[in-house]
Amino acid sequence: LGESRGMLLEWEAVRAWLEPRRANAHKGSHGTLGILGGAAGMTGAAILAGRAALRTGAGKVLVGLYDERAPAFDPEAPELMLRKPADVLDADALVAGPGSGSSPALATAIAFEKPIVLDADSLNDLAKNAAHRKPLKARKAATILTPHPGEAARLLNTDTKAIQADRIASALRMAEEFNAHVVLKGAGSIVAHPDGTYAINTTGNPGLASGGTGDALAGMIGAMLCQGLDAPRALAFAVCLHGAAADACVARGVGPVGLTASDVILEARALVNSE
Ligand code: APR
Ligand code: MG
Repeated sequence: LGESRGMLLEWEAVRAWLEPRRANAHKGSHGTLGILGGAAGMTGAAILAGRAALRTGAGKVLVGLYDERAPAFDPEAPELMLRKPADVLDADALVAGPGSGSSPALATAIAFEKPIVLDADSLNDLAKNAAHRKPLKARKAATILTPHPGEAARLLNTDTKAIQADRIASALRMAEEFNAHVVLKGAGSIVAHPDGTYAINTTGNPGLASGGTGDALAGMIGAMLCQGLDAPRALAFAVCLHGAAADACVARGVGPVGLTASDVILEARALVNSE
């Protein structure tokens, strides 16, 4: 690596972080995830995050949709509790941003006193509105940011080319500037922490370059927070799992061409249950 503070994320090593289910477990043992997103025209983003969280082990998932005309339930996953945004805050962790459009999702998440994951539109709001920075940095519970290179460029007030020219430095800078655990997404995702440590993910493939896979990742991170992993581990575990699931899909001929986020979610469930 040439960098003593960096490590590689490999699924065979990471998988042991998620403990086997206890025989006397109940749904309360695996936490409740709240999701804020799904403005008009983008309800699918929040629903995909919710499905990913359910299928990677969250006990309960409440999806708060900003679209007032959103569907009442998800026929593919009727276990998802589709609610108004104000009614998902009784949760152990919160994901904000998938399809949240111009909504108060970011401010609501910053005020939430437990771990949060900020993705997509919440990251764009954070980049646009400097007033959010101070309260975000002052949070006592963990903050996780999941930018792709375009979102990272906006957060660091630069361009995508500069981000990609030094992905490790870019990820570390976001971690420091926002006092957050960060994944800089894209081939070889970089997971970076405010203490200056980082890891490079070894899983994943170009099949993931399709709409919705980022939403699925945000849900998986939330599911791991709900199951008791601390924020750095929840983030690294989910990033590695998400890529490993895509690799397993490709290994059996599902993708890379035509691989969908839904395929990745189902394969991730198989992986978290495999020996
Ligand atoms: N190799 C490995 N992994 C990849 C590759 C690749 N070549 N390309 C993409 N990925 C992974 C990323 O690491 C990330 O986990 O796929 C995921 C893509 O996430 P996003 O870029 O957030 O994509 P998406 O879910 O489609 O987001 C849709 O959200 O962030 C906004 O602007 C975005 O409007 C868009 C929406
Ligand atoms: Mg995205």
